Amino acid sequence: MSEQFYSDAQLYDRLFPGGEPALDFYRAEADRQGGSVLELGSGTGNKLIPIAADGHQCTGLELSPDMLAEARRKADERGVEVQWVQGDMRELDLGRTFDLVVIAANSLLHLHDAEDLVACFRAVRRHLAPGARLVLDVYNPSVRLLAQADGVRRRRDELSFADPDRGVVHVDVAGTYDAAAQVTRGTWWFSSDAEADFLVAPLEMRSIFPQELPLLLSLGGLRVVERFGDWARGPFTAGAAIQLCVCEAD
Ligand SMILES: C[S@@+](CC[C@H](N)C(=O)[O-])C[C@H]1O[C@@H](n2cnc3c(N)ncnc32)[C@H](O)[C@@H]1O
Repeated sequence: MSEQFYSDAQLYDRLFPGGEPALDFYRAEADRQGGSVLELGSGTGNKLIPIAADGHQCTGLELSPDMLAEARRKADERGVEVQWVQGDMRELDLGRTFDLVVIAANSLLHLHDAEDLVACFRAVRRHLAPGARLVLDVYNPSVRLLAQADGVRRRRDELSFADPDRGVVHVDVAGTYDAAAQVTRGTWWFSSDAEADFLVAPLEMRSIFPQELPLLLSLGGLRVVERFGDWARGPFTAGAAIQLCVCEAD
């Protein structure tokens, strides 16, 4: 249900340009592990291209052909070699292992069913070389914000961005929270001065609660060895914005 959100990859990059401090964190993890890196849900390569430029052998698995094409274009432009694979992280089967597997920037939250999450973790486990790690980040759900999701369309000024083709792009968002599924079902409207609602895209994101995440990982044969609440490796607390987990094979 979120395919359209990723259908204009250049627009996505302008909305979420990526960069520090998340990028610094993942680069440091790649350096700490050494060797090969696999990212699941690699998007337009905002993490993986700089990691490959640091000298790591990188593979990116991505569902969206549009995001993958943009990743390939950006890597070629920078002269960086990355193996790009179109595929679904639930059915990961690359027939080899990696020293670091990364699932960054909430990509995991596109898997809604517990069975899909466990299938993904089991597949990751099979792709870990001896001593390898899985590092992932997902947001830390705020029950206050989830309860405020009332389905009303609102302008989000903090998300406005400049687009070289369209001028300033404004973003409106509405969402409701399905508590049984633990999924926020949102709609994002993108408008320029010339064209209102030039893109209307559903976006559905699961919430994974802090007590749930280690259990889901353990069902996949993985163990959380470090959990941070910010990019500076601060401790995970109730009010942390993110759950940043470093995992090893159990
Ligand atoms: C929020 S973006 C993050 C992109 C990238 N990891 C980054 O840090 O910029 C989530 C990405 O996950 C991809 N995705 C969603 N479901 C997927 C799946 N089942 N398998 C592989 N990729 C998936 C989307 O197409 C999208 O590119």
